[in-house]
Amino acid sequence: MSAIIVVGTQWGDEGKGKIIDFVSEQADMVVRHQGGNNAGHTVVSGDVVYKLHLIPSGILYPETDCVIANGVVVDPRVFLEEVEYLHQRGIGTERLRVSSEAHLIMPYHLVFDSLAEDRLGTQKLGTTLRGVGPAYMDKASRMGVRVGDLLQPEVFRDRLERVLSEKNHLLSKAYGRDQFDFEDMLEQYLAYGEQMRPYIANTSVVINRAIDAGKRVLFEGAQGTMLDIDHGTYPFVTSSHPIAGGACIGAGVGPTKIDAVYGVVKCYTSRVGDGPFPTELLDATGDAIRQEGQEYGTTTGRPRRIGWLDTVALRHAARVNGLTGLAVTRLDVLDHLDWIQIAVAYRYRGEVMTELPDSLEELSEVEPVLETMEGWKTSITGARRIDDLPAATRRYLDRIAELVGVPLALVSVGRERTNTIVLKPLF
Ligand code: GDP
Ligand code: IMO
Ligand code: MG
Repeated sequence: MSAIIVVGTQWGDEGKGKIIDFVSEQADMVVRHQGGNNAGHTVVSGDVVYKLHLIPSGILYPETDCVIANGVVVDPRVFLEEVEYLHQRGIGTERLRVSSEAHLIMPYHLVFDSLAEDRLGTQKLGTTLRGVGPAYMDKASRMGVRVGDLLQPEVFRDRLERVLSEKNHLLSKAYGRDQFDFEDMLEQYLAYGEQMRPYIANTSVVINRAIDAGKRVLFEGAQGTMLDIDHGTYPFVTSSHPIAGGACIGAGVGPTKIDAVYGVVKCYTSRVGDGPFPTELLDATGDAIRQEGQEYGTTTGRPRRIGWLDTVALRHAARVNGLTGLAVTRLDVLDHLDWIQIAVAYRYRGEVMTELPDSLEELSEVEPVLETMEGWKTSITGARRIDDLPAATRRYLDRIAELVGVPLALVSVGRERTNTIVLKPLF
């Protein structure tokens, strides 16, 4: 296997960072292809906990090349801070590249993100307020500024002048806000460009060369399938394509180059931000899982909403991603439960539905059809092979694979690299 994609199958925070870090040991290159620093990926290596938002989790391996490809929206300030964060921990970044075609998150995008949420009031999306949505809006409306522009002062001056006059007009006339100073922003961003210069490249060429040379390339998804702008719970979604197809567009790689797609599945569900959540637990069980799993956002610190595993949503994820294997995470978080429930279908106005409805209104009204399974009531963090797991844990895992219709590849029973059971190597 030369090129594989790892995606989130739920509403994000499935444990992609841990799985990608684990698989990165065998990868020659790790590529991020969508989203921005709205992502929060936690990787535990020995005593150190790394929190990465923009730079691929593969950076922790000194031999692995890392790429931030064209589909990512890059906040240069955050990029440089994260580079510094890694340097301070003795992690080199010489092997990091960022696409000249990636769009920039600019200061006005952060302001517009907050303004849009404020205006929506109770209808707000609960965004991470990192300016991601407004940056993708500008990309689609051909008002974006790109990483490569920073290296051409005249081009950048010209583009920024046009864009900023439009943004300033909106800010002051529509919202009564202060305007941004053009010269200040120009100077600051050209300086960022100089600092980023060694990292900037034509990443589609870099990635395709690696694949063609038989190198092992891992495409690292951020967010999750249910947050995909087309295939998620619109409008309660992010503005990019976290699904597998997004990797091709976001990295400039043809679909014929991809060998396999793995879905990361947290063995229950969490969601941070607003929107429908059919299996949500608003009771003591939900609180207990949140507490046990320390389910608080890596990026915003918000408590995550918790629910049972939803295999209707997972079958949707299997279909839209073309999943070839599952990586099930956080099984140890359920260690203390007497019983566990799993949604096998939905009920909508008395009728059973086995596919995710394509209307948000219907999804908001459905009740989950729950199956109850026995818990295992013992610590499983020490398990290294599938046979080390209690029979009840294996029954739960087998049932997930059966209901989703995709075989298991990895099982994660703790935060550390070593707390991982391999059923089928990803590469
Ligand atoms: P991501 O956004 O998908 O990368 O996930 P996050 O990093 O935001 O959240 C997942 C959290 O779960 C992190 O704190 C991980 O360290 C942790 N984690 C991942 N796998 C496991 C696991 O199998 N067991 C436990 N207890 N924690 C895990
Ligand atoms: P990782 O990669 C969980 C959610 C936000 C909000 C919606 C839109 O860590 O899994 P945005 O700021 O993207 O415009 O917000 O998407 N969201 C995430 N939820 N994990 C993430 O990333 C997320 N990135 C965005 O909470 O509901
Ligand atoms: Mg996260």
